[in-house]
Amino acid sequence: MLFWTLYFTLITAIILPATQAHRKLTPDYYDDMCPQALPTIRVMVETVVGIQPRMGASLVRLHFHDCFAKGCDGSVLLDDSPTMVGEKTAAPNNNSLRGFELVDEIKATLNVACFGNVVSCADILAIAARDSVVALGGSSYEVLLGRRDSTCASKAEANSNIPSPFSNLTEMLSKFQAHNLSAEDLVLLSGAHTLGFAKCKTLRNRIYNETSTIDPDFARSLKAKCHRAAGGSDDEELSPLDETPAAFDAGYYQMLTQRKGMLHTDQELFKGDGSEIDRLVKRYAEDAGAFKEGFGEAMVRLGSIKPLTGREGEVRENCRVVNRR
Ligand code: HEM
Ligand SMILES: *[C@@H]1O[C@H](CO)[C@@H](O)[C@H](O)[C@H]1NC(C)=O
Ligand SMILES: *[C@@H]1O[C@H](CO)[C@@H](O)[C@H](O)[C@H]1NC(C)=O
Ligand SMILES: *[C@@H]1O[C@H](CO)[C@@H](O)[C@H](O)[C@H]1NC(C)=O
Ligand SMILES: *[C@@H]1O[C@H](CO)[C@@H](O)[C@H](O)[C@H]1NC(C)=O
Repeated sequence: MLFWTLYFTLITAIILPATQAHRKLTPDYYDDMCPQALPTIRVMVETVVGIQPRMGASLVRLHFHDCFAKGCDGSVLLDDSPTMVGEKTAAPNNNSLRGFELVDEIKATLNVACFGNVVSCADILAIAARDSVVALGGSSYEVLLGRRDSTCASKAEANSNIPSPFSNLTEMLSKFQAHNLSAEDLVLLSGAHTLGFAKCKTLRNRIYNETSTIDPDFARSLKAKCHRAAGGSDDEELSPLDETPAAFDAGYYQMLTQRKGMLHTDQELFKGDGSEIDRLVKRYAEDAGAFKEGFGEAMVRLGSIKPLTGREGEVRENCRVVNRR
């Protein structure tokens, strides 16, 4: 009896996990393999974000764009190569995603701190996103770990899965639903726009054409920065996505309730029609604590999209290229 109990314990505890392709993500994944991993990432993110707060925004966005194309597998970090087209030049990413050099630095530092290639690029993105949120005043949350890195990318999925800033609510809901994310997840995760900046080219149509859904004074001030004609030097001009782009607060939702959403897609979440979505926006506008709490939970769901685990994929030595084999 004792023998069989021990025998089955051994099988399930040691042999099965090692042979299983599919394993669950866990918060303590690196605790034994590299206890320095999480503190190392946190210090590096805190240091850079302290000097350059926008980098925190850029890291949060990188994790989102990684997860929406092929799952959270580091695919967004792969450079184009002679044999593979990466995701970096997909429409939502090209000339817009930032933070790749910092991710490289974190990865190189971890390869030393962990005495080898231990921490996946996909996990670095998940941890760096959380550390950025915390560094800018959001609430902390436990990040699930154990993702492995993909050996390919999908520009097509980046183009089709990541919503464009000109989408309507129905389209956004369906792109989130495709990843098992709810309407509430859409509202909460869009709250990431409490951080960071957007370029004139994503704002023009809203500020010049959407007169019925934008506060007129707000539109006027944006027009001063973004001229009507596209293609000028102001195309790349940046405007903050809320009034406090370096503070993780409820300002984003407050702006939506005042018809001061920056992107068309932001204002789609509040139309003043008393819908379920409207009521969620109102709730988070009034309760920053509820937003911060809910955001962490929604980030865990975002970070759980189709991870590679166990023996799937690989741990990339360099986040920009697949390992040589
Ligand atoms: C729901 C649909 C979404 C759309 C249409 C959208 C679109 C955009 C656009 C157009 C920009 C500005 C890019 C530029 O001008 O270069 C932006 C910035 C940003 N987005 Fe989103 N986004 C969405 C959801 C999200 C989500 C879910 C997150 C994260 C959880 C996120 C995080 C960010 C951040 C932090 C920035 C600022 C980045 C920076 O300053 O570098 N967005 N987004
Ligand atoms: C990406 O952006 C650069 C710089 O704006 C541009 O020259 C290039 O054509 C774009 N690539 C794609 C695939 O859109
Ligand atoms: C949303 O956009 C889709 C695709 O462009 C369109 O078919 C649909 O009618 C739009 N829905 C609403 C409610 O405007
Ligand atoms: C979404 O959830 C359903 C039911 O819980 C599950 O069967 C399905 O695999 C999930 N899809 C994704 C993309 O995670
Ligand atoms: C406003 O809408 C018109 C008609 O759809 C379009 O041609 C024009 O480019 C838009 N203006 C801006 C500034 O986007």
